[in-house]
Amino acid sequence: MKLNITRRTAMIGAAGLAAAATTLASTGDIAEAAVYTEDSGPLPTRRERIEPATPPFVHPHNQVAKNGPTIKEVTLTVHEKKIVVDDDGTTLNAFTYNGSVPGPLLVVHQDDYIELTLVNPPTNMFEHNVDFHASTGALGGGALTHVSPGEQVTLRFKATRPGVFVYHCAPGGPMIPWHVVNGMQGAVMVLPRDGLKDANGKPLRYDRVYYVGETDFYIPRDANGKFKSYASAGDAYQDQMKLMRGLIPSHVVFNGKVGALTGKNVMKAKVGETVLIVHSQANRDTRPHLIGGHGDYVWESGKFSNPPETNLETWFIRGGSAGAAMYTFRQPGTYAYLNHNLIEAILLGAAAHFKVEGQWNNELMTQVKKPGPIPGAAHS
Ligand code: CU
Repeated sequence: MKLNITRRTAMIGAAGLAAAATTLASTGDIAEAAVYTEDSGPLPTRRERIEPATPPFVHPHNQVAKNGPTIKEVTLTVHEKKIVVDDDGTTLNAFTYNGSVPGPLLVVHQDDYIELTLVNPPTNMFEHNVDFHASTGALGGGALTHVSPGEQVTLRFKATRPGVFVYHCAPGGPMIPWHVVNGMQGAVMVLPRDGLKDANGKPLRYDRVYYVGETDFYIPRDANGKFKSYASAGDAYQDQMKLMRGLIPSHVVFNGKVGALTGKNVMKAKVGETVLIVHSQANRDTRPHLIGGHGDYVWESGKFSNPPETNLETWFIRGGSAGAAMYTFRQPGTYAYLNHNLIEAILLGAAAHFKVEGQWNNELMTQVKKPGPIPGAAHS
């Protein structure tokens, strides 16, 4: 076994080094087994390239596969960068796939192959990898994708199961939760080849798809209660670890920042359009709710081989998973889409908005009488 001593192991000291050594020892065995017992079936000859979009947007894709199984090539580049996570200017030295928190949603069909090239530029400080919950074996590809700064690696896996699945960084030991809560998560959507269906097999199609990745941040405060700013991720490590052990996040946000999906970044739709919302959380449980709307069809656990639940008010996304909810908007207006732990939504940031254009339907709702004095009540 070769132990890679990177700048990060030097920075985090003996405890981190020991953890890294343990993990590398165990994953090294898995990686070796994967290499020497490989038994590849015939691979598709068709190849297509995915150009990932920045969430909440999703790259163009067919809902029903037009061709047979395809190798879908994609490159994700790790950017270690300082991001602003709220309107007070609080910063985090984030770890990202392709520069966004969360990383892109990658869409393929069942029995396609994802061929990922993971690039860790030389300007980065840390080792990274990726564990795809959509994949099978070698720690979800985590054992085969460790890259130090200045390296890249290519992994191919078959998307055997339909559904939405988290991917995240998992470099070993305490680096695993630290990289995840510093931003390194994303999701894969594996559509059935003939598209989504309800419990009776009726096709379900969407007009728009949005990807909401929820992250819990742990940003330390100084003695006066103000959020601390650190020159580098490594400088924040010890303080963040202490906070993480308490399990109380400083922020819970959608798409990397309080208000990332409100105001000018609001998600748009029109009355009559069907929207698919993919929601992931790689670390903590969450419970999405659309105020003034519903989940018409919800794959709460995110797996399309199970029939969707219908007419949900709130749905539950287990930490370490993704879910998908489909809704046809029936009224215009602004809808809040939030984590219905309302403390996390309003005080910590886990809220987004949809702006829906169209004609109001008075039959569905109307204000029968405007607010006015209570008849017969005394006034002072
Ligand atoms: Cu990482």
